[in-house]
Amino acid sequence: MFHLLSVLIFFLLVNTCNSSNTFIALLDPLLKPSPFLSHELWYSSIVSSSSSSSIIHVYNAPIHGFSATLTPDQVKSIRKLPGILSLFPDRVLHLHTTRSPSFLGLELETPNPFILNTSQSNSIIGVIDTGIWPEHPSFSDHNLGPIPAHWKGQCENGFRFNHTNCNRKIIGARFFSGGYEAWFGKSGAPIIEFRSPRDSDGHGTHVASIAAGSPVTGSGFFGFAVGLARGVAPRARIAVYKVCWASGCLLSDICKAFESAISDGVDIISLSLGSSRLPFYLDLLSIVSYRAFSHGIFVAVSAGNEGPELASVANEPPWVTTVGAGTIDRDFPATIHLKNNVSIHGKSITLMQDDKLIRKYYYPVHSIGKFNSSSKFNFSGQLVEGKIVFCQAEGHVARLSLGAMLKRARAIAMIVSHGNVDPNGIVSEPHVIPTISIGGLEAKKIEKYILSNKNPRAKVCSQGTISMHAKPAPIVASFSSRGPNSLVPGILKPDIIAPGVNILGAWTDAMGPSGLALDYRRSSFNIMSGTSMACPHVSGAAALIKSNHPDWGPNLIKSALMTTSTNRKHYYDRHKQISGSLMHISDESTGNAATPFDIGAGHMLPIKAMDPGLIFDLGDQDYVSFLCGLNYTKEQLQIVTGKKSHCSNEQDTWQLNYPAIAVEAERVRHGPVVITRKVKNVNKGSRIYKAKLVGPKGYYKIDVKPKRLKFSGVSERLSFRVVVEKENGMQKGKNLWFGALIWREKGGKHNVKCPIVIFCGKEYLNGLKN
Ligand SMILES: *[C@@H]1O[C@H](CO)[C@@H](O)[C@H](O)[C@H]1NC(C)=O
Ligand SMILES: *[C@@H]1O[C@H](CO)[C@@H](O)[C@H](O)[C@H]1NC(C)=O
Ligand SMILES: *[C@@H]1O[C@H](CO)[C@@H](O)[C@H](O)[C@H]1NC(C)=O
Ligand SMILES: *[C@@H]1O[C@H](CO)[C@@H](O)[C@H](O)[C@H]1NC(C)=O
Ligand SMILES: *[C@@H]1O[C@H](CO)[C@@H](O)[C@H](O)[C@H]1NC(C)=O
Ligand SMILES: *[C@@H]1O[C@H](CO)[C@@H](O)[C@H](O)[C@H]1NC(C)=O
Repeated sequence: MFHLLSVLIFFLLVNTCNSSNTFIALLDPLLKPSPFLSHELWYSSIVSSSSSSSIIHVYNAPIHGFSATLTPDQVKSIRKLPGILSLFPDRVLHLHTTRSPSFLGLELETPNPFILNTSQSNSIIGVIDTGIWPEHPSFSDHNLGPIPAHWKGQCENGFRFNHTNCNRKIIGARFFSGGYEAWFGKSGAPIIEFRSPRDSDGHGTHVASIAAGSPVTGSGFFGFAVGLARGVAPRARIAVYKVCWASGCLLSDICKAFESAISDGVDIISLSLGSSRLPFYLDLLSIVSYRAFSHGIFVAVSAGNEGPELASVANEPPWVTTVGAGTIDRDFPATIHLKNNVSIHGKSITLMQDDKLIRKYYYPVHSIGKFNSSSKFNFSGQLVEGKIVFCQAEGHVARLSLGAMLKRARAIAMIVSHGNVDPNGIVSEPHVIPTISIGGLEAKKIEKYILSNKNPRAKVCSQGTISMHAKPAPIVASFSSRGPNSLVPGILKPDIIAPGVNILGAWTDAMGPSGLALDYRRSSFNIMSGTSMACPHVSGAAALIKSNHPDWGPNLIKSALMTTSTNRKHYYDRHKQISGSLMHISDESTGNAATPFDIGAGHMLPIKAMDPGLIFDLGDQDYVSFLCGLNYTKEQLQIVTGKKSHCSNEQDTWQLNYPAIAVEAERVRHGPVVITRKVKNVNKGSRIYKAKLVGPKGYYKIDVKPKRLKFSGVSERLSFRVVVEKENGMQKGKNLWFGALIWREKGGKHNVKCPIVIFCGKEYLNGLKN
């Protein structure tokens, strides 16, 4: 026993060492000893002490340094060398798709009622993901003008990919696998996965088409969501950076992709993956995204799929735009007719409408019970052949694999319960077996029927795709990660929500829609869900804004998207953008009105964001004061910003000129808290704005000073203060306050909204840990 245990421990140790010996070294380029003619030679001399070490990537800008496999002894000695700012262990990050272990979502035509009718667009979106399927019609360059003059990137050759695969839509494509191969080994995978920008997974192709896909008519997924598919910014250009491979995405490769994207001249970076809960100076993703921001690049990132847990949001830095996921106004209804005349409503994108056999006959129903993430699938003893199989597979269960196993066991169809979710939020999955997905309440009805009947039978049928014009969207998806921001409570996260449930997008030819090896279907479109799909909607919107306002930097675009977003449900209308605005956006997981912890400022409305009226702008110096407020040392400050700066003006984090206000209740306990913000008028002529506060009465007294802002011309900046005081003492559990400050233009159309949140950080964050 003892012997076995020590073998096991040895194995674990060896494994840990093997899997964590790639490091990323950040150096101060100014400290290069003069004998070295280049930085590269300097870096080589640092790692050359061991013959097994070799440099994987050299970083030239915006971060300076290298990645390499290092022995523990090297790590110790390198840390002490002059010029070394920091040494980060490499890490594997994962895409924010719901597909992987749990829900795989699917389908819907991208709702792009806000297409800008610009004749050309010179905005370039860098998509850092799994690559692209370049032959897809979504990436046709028909009618696009010449490649934007500011593009300096390249189209890299590789397995089944060369420069002929780039065009005026896909203007550049590269791949980065050095970090991945050092971590996981080369082992044959390069061919299967295409050691090139070509996408063998589908995710990158999907995301790129959501952001900037060209219009494709008659698209759809096996007869569902048929119609015109196009990206949010159909005329924007795509630059592909492939960093994600079968087992994940290495931080060292992602950093290299950021470096390329910045030097290539992208305007926007779209990143559907993330990291969280590491102080910014320890988190390379925060660091490289800061540097991208400094270069004027708008960075959109996904919030993560860890909801509805509070404080689950990833990608916390204020310099990125963090995107949560909502539903859209499409539905794929399907019905289960039980033999006792009870009908059950669900969703399906895999029941063919013309499948008369299934529509017509009642088939025996067999329950295989409940599944969770630790269940083993084994149907060998069970008779599922020729039956409709009912199962309850909640949470992080590989439902697609379950469907595949049932198909192999010759079941005729599957009814699968996704648990207690709002029926509107059920993610439709591209199962290999005809499947109806239902919610927990409906599942109880079926369970009861099966238990009370010796010979339970049912027939199932699909109603196809309906556009729910009578049914407003969005609802915040349960899976969308929630605030508050556990790293910096003074910065509200997520920033915004965008469509992320059942989104139709382009798909690779190399993989079936379910992502299972045994799925031999091929579809040029697929339906997926996740904040992964929400993020490129914001990237596309940013590209539209950038085309209209080429001089706007990332913070202006972000401010415009946030202050013009809506917290109301609305009907999408293809032609009119919005035809109605109704009640508050609700939270799928509770049915209640969504809070800023669920939706940030609200759901994006790109057309409105073109003309925001006022903007909250922010520059490098504001971020230095912000980082000083986090008590960062001079070295930590330099690691994040890449510059030597001093803390002369440290600010409380909530004082950052952010288009959202989040204050911890503990601060208010000791007296009034004064929050200062500054807004810039981006319209011509003189304009008057009046303050309107919305939110519940009681607990807090909130005041705005002044209540009126008079701008005499474009680019004028004016400040205002929001004063928060406690009212009648504080009560436990009542410290939470959600509201907003709206600056309404007098005699004009602009409404500039800034959400306000007061919450007890301790109660929330400590409560969560228990
Ligand atoms: C776009 O603009 C062009 C020229 O201004 C116009 O002819 C065309 O009808 C517009 N298209 C849409 C969909 O509004
Ligand atoms: C590039 O790819 C195209 C299409 O796959 C192929 O026809 C062509 O020969 C390739 N060119 C080079 C230089 O490899
Ligand atoms: C179901 O409806 C049919 C026709 O309406 C009727 O003949 C049958 O008795 C009903 N069955 C049950 C179990 O109610
Ligand atoms: C999974 O289900 C089994 C049996 O129903 C149960 O014992 C186990 O606790 C469940 N695990 C989780 C993680 O829910
Ligand atoms: C599945 O269950 C059967 C008996 O019910 C058993 O013989 C078989 O080995 C199991 N298969 C797996 C893969 O566990
Ligand atoms: C920074 O340090 C000051 C003074 O010690 C302290 O009051 C403040 O809470 C610290 N801020 C953070 C974010 O830790």
